[in-house]
Amino acid sequence: MSDAIGIRAATAADAEAVDAIIRAAFAGTDFGHQGEAELVRMIDADGDALVSLVAERDALIVGHVLFSRMDIEADGGALAGAGLAPVSVVPGLQGQGIGDALIRAGIDALREQGVAISFVLGHQAYYPRFGYSPDLAARFASRFAGPHFMAMMLDSGAAWPLGGRADYAPAFGRMG
Ligand SMILES: CC(C)(COP(=O)(O)OP(=O)(O)OC[C@H]1O[C@@H](n2cnc3c(N)ncnc32)[C@H](O)[C@@H]1OP(=O)(O)O)[C@@H](O)C(=O)NCCC(=O)NCCS
Repeated sequence: MSDAIGIRAATAADAEAVDAIIRAAFAGTDFGHQGEAELVRMIDADGDALVSLVAERDALIVGHVLFSRMDIEADGGALAGAGLAPVSVVPGLQGQGIGDALIRAGIDALREQGVAISFVLGHQAYYPRFGYSPDLAARFASRFAGPHFMAMMLDSGAAWPLGGRADYAPAFGRMG
């Protein structure tokens, strides 16, 4: 037995375990539904998953993060973009840095893929530590616009676009 957490790319064989982790993580939240597991399956089926990582402890999956393809227009041109959602850690192991490790590894993987910008809709106390900013997201028209909508340039030296549009993958539009 070891407490060490490993992070690796999710495979098709992980689908059921990932589904269970997402359901368990969101069961206790006030999101009011368990649609996230369904959302992940639809994004996968559409071929819109850019980065899907699992956290493992003792060969058991204890966390998952997905970044999906977005359709981004910035200052009149297209920009490669990825939306972070959902991120899930098994309830008994939350608050120990597993979510943090998954998100940081995911952001690194996006950089390697040449993705330029990432968006997230989430808690303002959590995501800014990774570099997400509501001020950057506010420059983009989106159905998710608001204080919980945040964005980051994956090259921290890149200039912020002045304006544009940010659309999540089509599966998000099929959510109830
Ligand atoms: C959000 C979540 C992925 C964070 O992963 P984690 O491994 O628990 O988080 P970390 O240990 O990396 O970071 C802890 C931080 O997460 C925040 N957090 C969010 N939900 C938390 C929870 N249930 N328990 C502990 N911390 C939580 C805390 O604010 C804490 O912040 P602090 O460092 O300022 O104290 C995880 O708690 C989870 O699965 N929650 C339920 C599902 C969810 O809400 N997902 C996010 C919406 S997409």
